[in-house]
Amino acid sequence: MAVLQVTRSPDPLLRRRTRWVKRIDASIQKIIDDMIETMHAERGVGLAANQVGIPLRLAVAQPEEDDEPIVLINLEIVRRKGEREVNEGCLSIPGYRGTVRRSVKVRAKALDRTGRPFKIKAEGDVLAQALEHETDHLNGVLYTDHLVDGQLRPVGAPSASEDPVGPAEAAAS
Ligand code: NI
Repeated sequence: MAVLQVTRSPDPLLRRRTRWVKRIDASIQKIIDDMIETMHAERGVGLAANQVGIPLRLAVAQPEEDDEPIVLINLEIVRRKGEREVNEGCLSIPGYRGTVRRSVKVRAKALDRTGRPFKIKAEGDVLAQALEHETDHLNGVLYTDHLVDGQLRPVGAPSASEDPVGPAEAAAS
Protein backbone atom coordinates (compact mmCIF):
# COMPACT_ATOMS: atom_id res chain seq x y z
CA MET A 1 0.00 0.00 0.00
CA ALA A 2 1.10 3.54 -0.56
CA VAL A 3 0.07 7.02 0.42
CA LEU A 4 -0.82 8.85 -2.77
CA GLN A 5 -0.41 12.52 -3.50
CA VAL A 6 -3.69 14.43 -3.14
CA THR A 7 -4.59 16.54 -6.16
CA ARG A 8 -5.07 20.17 -5.22
CA SER A 9 -7.52 22.62 -6.67
CA PRO A 10 -7.37 24.06 -9.36
CA ASP A 11 -6.11 20.84 -10.98
CA PRO A 12 -8.43 20.25 -13.99
CA LEU A 13 -8.90 16.58 -13.01
CA LEU A 14 -11.04 17.78 -10.10
CA ARG A 15 -13.38 19.43 -12.61
CA ARG A 16 -13.98 16.43 -14.84
CA ARG A 17 -16.66 13.81 -14.38
CA THR A 18 -15.11 10.48 -13.55
CA ARG A 19 -15.63 7.30 -15.57
CA TRP A 20 -17.70 4.34 -14.39
CA VAL A 21 -15.66 1.41 -13.14
CA LYS A 22 -16.30 -1.44 -15.59
CA ARG A 23 -14.14 -4.16 -14.13
CA ILE A 24 -13.06 -4.62 -10.53
CA ASP A 25 -9.64 -6.20 -10.97
CA ALA A 26 -6.38 -6.30 -9.03
CA SER A 27 -5.46 -2.78 -10.12
CA ILE A 28 -8.75 -1.46 -8.67
CA GLN A 29 -8.09 -3.35 -5.43
CA LYS A 30 -4.69 -1.68 -5.18
CA ILE A 31 -6.18 1.75 -5.86
CA ILE A 32 -8.77 1.13 -3.11
CA ASP A 33 -6.08 0.11 -0.59
CA ASP A 34 -3.94 3.12 -1.48
CA MET A 35 -6.94 5.46 -1.23
CA ILE A 36 -7.81 4.15 2.24
CA GLU A 37 -4.21 4.59 3.35
CA THR A 38 -4.15 8.10 1.89
CA MET A 39 -7.45 9.02 3.59
CA HIS A 40 -5.99 7.88 6.92
CA ALA A 41 -2.70 9.72 6.37
CA GLU A 42 -4.58 12.93 5.51
CA ARG A 43 -7.05 12.45 8.38
CA GLY A 44 -9.93 12.79 5.96
CA VAL A 45 -13.43 11.36 6.35
CA GLY A 46 -13.57 10.51 2.66
CA LEU A 47 -11.61 10.56 -0.57
CA ALA A 48 -12.59 10.41 -4.24
CA ALA A 49 -10.35 8.74 -6.83
CA ASN A 50 -9.94 11.90 -8.90
CA GLN A 51 -8.41 13.49 -5.78
CA VAL A 52 -5.48 11.11 -6.20
CA GLY A 53 -5.20 11.54 -9.97
CA ILE A 54 -7.41 8.61 -10.98
CA PRO A 55 -10.44 9.59 -13.11
CA LEU A 56 -12.68 6.70 -12.01
CA ARG A 57 -16.05 6.76 -10.23
CA LEU A 58 -14.75 5.39 -6.97
CA ALA A 59 -14.60 6.80 -3.45
CA VAL A 60 -13.85 5.71 0.10
CA ALA A 61 -15.33 7.10 3.30
CA GLN A 62 -14.77 6.66 7.01
CA PRO A 63 -16.81 9.14 9.06
CA GLU A 64 -15.41 8.05 12.43
CA GLU A 65 -11.98 6.69 13.29
CA ASP A 66 -13.46 3.52 14.77
CA ASP A 67 -15.60 2.78 11.71
CA GLU A 68 -14.55 0.39 9.00
CA PRO A 69 -13.68 2.20 5.77
CA ILE A 70 -16.56 2.09 3.27
CA VAL A 71 -15.66 1.39 -0.36
CA LEU A 72 -18.01 3.08 -2.84
CA ILE A 73 -17.49 1.96 -6.43
CA ASN A 74 -19.77 3.68 -8.99
CA LEU A 75 -21.30 5.74 -6.20
CA GLU A 76 -24.62 7.42 -7.01
CA ILE A 77 -27.03 9.33 -4.80
CA VAL A 78 -30.53 7.97 -5.34
CA ARG A 79 -32.48 10.16 -2.94
CA ARG A 80 -31.99 13.34 -0.94
CA LYS A 81 -34.37 14.86 1.57
CA GLY A 82 -34.33 18.00 3.67
CA GLU A 83 -31.78 20.77 3.91
CA ARG A 84 -29.20 21.76 6.48
CA GLU A 85 -26.14 23.97 6.66
CA VAL A 86 -22.83 22.41 7.61
CA ASN A 87 -19.21 23.39 7.84
CA GLU A 88 -17.11 21.55 5.34
CA GLY A 89 -13.55 21.17 4.18
CA CYS A 90 -11.78 19.40 1.35
CA LEU A 91 -8.38 17.70 1.23
CA SER A 92 -7.94 19.23 -2.24
CA ILE A 93 -8.41 22.74 -0.79
CA PRO A 94 -6.27 22.48 2.34
CA GLY A 95 -6.38 25.06 5.09
CA TYR A 96 -9.92 26.28 4.48
CA ARG A 97 -13.47 25.60 5.55
CA GLY A 98 -16.79 26.94 4.40
CA THR A 99 -20.50 26.63 5.04
CA VAL A 100 -22.52 24.66 2.52
CA ARG A 101 -26.09 23.50 2.21
CA ARG A 102 -26.44 19.74 2.33
CA SER A 103 -29.30 17.28 2.53
CA VAL A 104 -30.52 15.89 5.83
CA LYS A 105 -31.27 12.42 4.50
CA VAL A 106 -29.16 10.82 1.81
CA ARG A 107 -29.65 7.47 0.17
CA ALA A 108 -26.97 6.19 -2.19
CA LYS A 109 -26.04 3.05 -4.06
CA ALA A 110 -22.65 1.66 -4.97
CA LEU A 111 -20.69 -1.54 -5.43
CA ASP A 112 -18.46 -2.86 -2.68
CA ARG A 113 -14.92 -3.98 -3.43
CA THR A 114 -16.12 -7.45 -4.42
CA GLY A 115 -18.51 -5.90 -6.95
CA ARG A 116 -21.63 -6.57 -4.91
CA PRO A 117 -24.25 -3.80 -5.16
CA PHE A 118 -25.43 -2.26 -1.90
CA LYS A 119 -27.49 0.65 -0.67
CA ILE A 120 -26.41 3.01 2.04
CA LYS A 121 -28.42 5.61 3.88
CA ALA A 122 -27.43 8.30 6.32
CA GLU A 123 -29.23 11.05 8.14
CA GLY A 124 -27.91 14.31 9.50
CA ASP A 125 -24.39 13.05 10.11
CA VAL A 126 -20.86 13.15 8.72
CA LEU A 127 -21.60 10.11 6.53
CA ALA A 128 -24.51 11.89 4.85
CA GLN A 129 -22.26 14.87 4.25
CA ALA A 130 -19.40 12.72 2.94
CA LEU A 131 -21.67 10.82 0.54
CA GLU A 132 -22.73 14.11 -1.04
CA HIS A 133 -19.22 15.60 -0.95
CA GLU A 134 -17.66 12.54 -2.63
CA THR A 135 -20.45 12.28 -5.19
CA ASP A 136 -19.82 15.93 -6.02
CA HIS A 137 -16.11 15.16 -6.52
CA LEU A 138 -16.93 12.29 -8.85
CA ASN A 139 -19.09 14.69 -10.87
CA GLY A 140 -16.37 17.35 -11.03
CA VAL A 141 -17.98 19.57 -8.40
CA LEU A 142 -16.23 21.14 -5.38
CA TYR A 143 -17.91 22.31 -2.17
CA THR A 144 -16.67 25.82 -2.93
CA ASP A 145 -19.21 25.82 -5.80
CA HIS A 146 -22.05 26.04 -3.31
CA LEU A 147 -20.89 28.07 -0.34
CA VAL A 148 -23.96 29.64 1.25
CA ASP A 149 -22.21 32.95 1.93
CA GLY A 150 -19.59 32.72 -0.80
CA GLN A 151 -16.82 32.76 1.80
CA LEU A 152 -13.96 30.41 2.52
CA ARG A 153 -12.56 30.66 6.05
CA PRO A 154 -8.98 29.78 6.95
CA VAL A 155 -8.85 26.85 9.37
CA GLY A 156 -8.66 28.14 12.92
CA ALA A 157 -10.55 31.34 12.17
CA PRO A 158 -13.66 31.74 14.30
CA SER A 159 -16.99 31.16 12.59
CA ALA A 160 -19.32 34.11 12.20
CA SER A 161 -21.17 34.54 15.48
CA GLU A 162 -24.51 33.86 13.85
CA ASP A 163 -23.12 30.68 12.30
CA PRO A 164 -25.21 27.87 13.78
CA VAL A 165 -23.53 24.98 12.05
CA GLY A 166 -20.88 23.83 14.48
CA PRO A 167 -17.12 23.88 14.80
CA ALA A 168 -14.98 25.55 12.15
CA GLU A 169 -12.69 22.50 12.30
CA ALA A 170 -15.22 20.53 10.28
CA ALA A 171 -14.19 17.27 8.70
CA ALA A 172 -12.49 17.37 5.31
CA SER A 173 -12.75 14.81 2.52
NI1 NI B 1 -13.10 17.01 -0.99
